[in-house]
Amino acid sequence: MKPLRLAIAALLCAAAPLSAQAEGKDPYVPETDPLVVRKLEQWQDWKFGFMMHWGAYSQWGIVESWSICSEDVDWCGPSKSNEHTKRYANDYVGYVKAYEQLPTTFNPVKFDPERWAEVAKDAGTKYVVFTTKHHDGFAMFDTQQSDYKITAASVPFHSNPRANVTKEVFDAFRAQGFGIGAYFSKPDWHSDDYWSPRWATPNRHTNYDTRKHPDIWKRFVDYTHAQIGEITSQYGPIDILWLDGGWVRARDTMDDTAHGIAGVPWTQDIDMPGLAALARKNQPGLIVVDRAVGGRYENYRTPEQKIPDEPLPYPWETCMTLGDSWSYVPNDNYKSARSVVQMLVDVVAKGGNYLLNVGPDGNGELPAEAVERLHQIGRWMRVNGEAIYASRAVAPYRDGKFRYTRLKDGTVYAIYLPDETESKLPKTLRIPGPAPAAGAQVTLLGNDAALRWHRDGEATVVEVPAALRNSAAGAYAWAFRLPGAAAAQ
Ligand code: GLC
Repeated sequence: MKPLRLAIAALLCAAAPLSAQAEGKDPYVPETDPLVVRKLEQWQDWKFGFMMHWGAYSQWGIVESWSICSEDVDWCGPSKSNEHTKRYANDYVGYVKAYEQLPTTFNPVKFDPERWAEVAKDAGTKYVVFTTKHHDGFAMFDTQQSDYKITAASVPFHSNPRANVTKEVFDAFRAQGFGIGAYFSKPDWHSDDYWSPRWATPNRHTNYDTRKHPDIWKRFVDYTHAQIGEITSQYGPIDILWLDGGWVRARDTMDDTAHGIAGVPWTQDIDMPGLAALARKNQPGLIVVDRAVGGRYENYRTPEQKIPDEPLPYPWETCMTLGDSWSYVPNDNYKSARSVVQMLVDVVAKGGNYLLNVGPDGNGELPAEAVERLHQIGRWMRVNGEAIYASRAVAPYRDGKFRYTRLKDGTVYAIYLPDETESKLPKTLRIPGPAPAAGAQVTLLGNDAALRWHRDGEATVVEVPAALRNSAAGAYAWAFRLPGAAAAQ
């Protein structure tokens, strides 16, 4: 409890609304470590990932962490309150105190990571990114650096044999062949060395000038490195260290006008060279994603909730929520399987990966509606996955309703994205772009029948027999295989 901080934070409850984290302004720096380069190639083959935000906040069905940051004015007021939070509508100080106590009631007895992995696998995702610690600082792993953790005696779940949740999640997903990604928030709003009890906490940043208090900052850096050391040495093989909180970075001047915060003139240099070296000593070849920071430790870029218009000249991954929220909220507004599939295709055609997020609830279950969507996505992936996995971008990337991918053997896939009202493929389809090899068997994925085709100018004209025109497997997107349309690589 930090009374002074809370009281003043309440007064400052009128800062800018939370905005999406901008992409880094610094140039992408290509990786030179051959093990990391190899892992990045492998990761690009996976294409489709599963992300989960899960923490003590899931019990209340509210946004992860942000409600305790005075920037996020919405969560201070009654507009987003639910049965758990409304009694604090006029009592921000009480609200934050109660939020910080959430671990003392956290007992997710339905926690079943094998089930999560099964659902994620059925959907066709190949790697998982799990919140080991979000900005609120509550560790979902058995850290020795803090008592604000899932395995603390004050947390009812601590006596459960599966209490070390991060370990259980990583083990369960690894057992089903997934790549493993650890989401870790660099800022930690529970740490007295990040938000010191000596001063108010007006925004997401440290509430002290790190240049004037290098001792406090040094403790925080050491603490963070120690936690990263734990995660990378005690939780089995890890492929990705996904570091969130891009405002924690080495800069002489923090320009955070993007978040409506002017004048945080101090740097928050977390010693990324040291942190990455430590993590890679434990996990050779580890992909490090120092999100939105740019430079050597952001091995891939992570556009958030959006898809770039054009292919990007470096590895990248769109992270996106299946519902509207990263964490569980009751009755979230889930996207249709159709729109997820079409976005996945669009991302992959531009050379990216797609990381789809679902928040388990406070008992440890994935919401039934989300599971249903994931199964529908899986049905499409089982038929059409060969156009997605291990593919790379190929010109013209997209043309009208078509998106293109290619495999190393030179096969090109032209994937048709129908409008919502279009339940049938047209009888004749003009596929602009690269020509299949002479005499090649052009097929529609899901069916072996060779389709009649010919070239007409810059397009391949394909005839779709009646029996294939309303192929249910395609409904969200139809993929045509064009052998030999790209030079083999
Ligand atoms: C946004 C949210 C943050 C979440 C992240 C995931 O930055 O503010 O809470 O963890 O997206 O990409």
